[in-house]
Amino acid sequence: LGNAVLYSEVITSTQTVLDKNYNFAQCLPTGLVCLATNQIAGRGRGRNSWVSQAGALQFSFVVRHGLHLSKSPVVFVQYLIALSIVESIRTRKGYEEVPLRLKWPNDIYADLEDEGLKKVGGLLVNSSFVRDEFLLVIGCGINLDNAHPTVSINDVIQKHNPALKRLDREEVLAHVLVTFEKYYMEFCEKGIGAWFLDKYYQRWLHSNKLVTLTTHNDEKAKIVGITSDYGMLEAVSVNNPRVKFTLQPDGNS
Ligand code: BTN
Repeated sequence: LGNAVLYSEVITSTQTVLDKNYNFAQCLPTGLVCLATNQIAGRGRGRNSWVSQAGALQFSFVVRHGLHLSKSPVVFVQYLIALSIVESIRTRKGYEEVPLRLKWPNDIYADLEDEGLKKVGGLLVNSSFVRDEFLLVIGCGINLDNAHPTVSINDVIQKHNPALKRLDREEVLAHVLVTFEKYYMEFCEKGIGAWFLDKYYQRWLHSNKLVTLTTHNDEKAKIVGITSDYGMLEAVSVNNPRVKFTLQPDGNS
């Protein structure tokens, strides 16, 4: 991944450039990256916009995922990239305890003792299905060096340990892509499983969190993981652990 990089100082949106034209997009190879310093029409998940901030690492890349490449559904690719972003920082020597965590489905948060949880990154995956493959455009917005609208990852690093070096965009980009590639190859070989989920659950914010199910008479349930079919949140009833629930993003809590 990342052998070819399209770079622009200012662009509409790296995501739009890669997926706006269906026919054009079909010609794009796996691993092509589009990187920009500023986006004037950045896109967030759903109908949200993404406000581009100077100093943020903002890029999109292409993955052509053949229908039969993995035993597990393509929806899990978003979790592979989310973990890749956190691990690209936390697997560096000296950076292991930098408090970056995952908020399901795919936001990156800093867990700051005095200020609570602050979003420092997000990602979106656009997918189209053409013949026998998914054309995925994966867009990542990482607040690496910008202080607005929230704290930046470099500030989190400095706060955690002032002796640690601030990271630059290029090295984080390279490390995210290398980490993702490793996970993606393993995903294609084995599907989703303990090799990935053990690491993912170590980093996410939800294990054993209690939620109130407004759709089930305010029943209390405990989050236990993500389902292996569609990667939804799974919770078990506090009163009867044999009763399981599947939760929608941001729902029922
Ligand atoms: C979210 O948190 O809602 C997802 C934000 C994703 C933002 C990135 S920045 C690079 C790429 N280009 C876009 O227009 N959006 C994604």
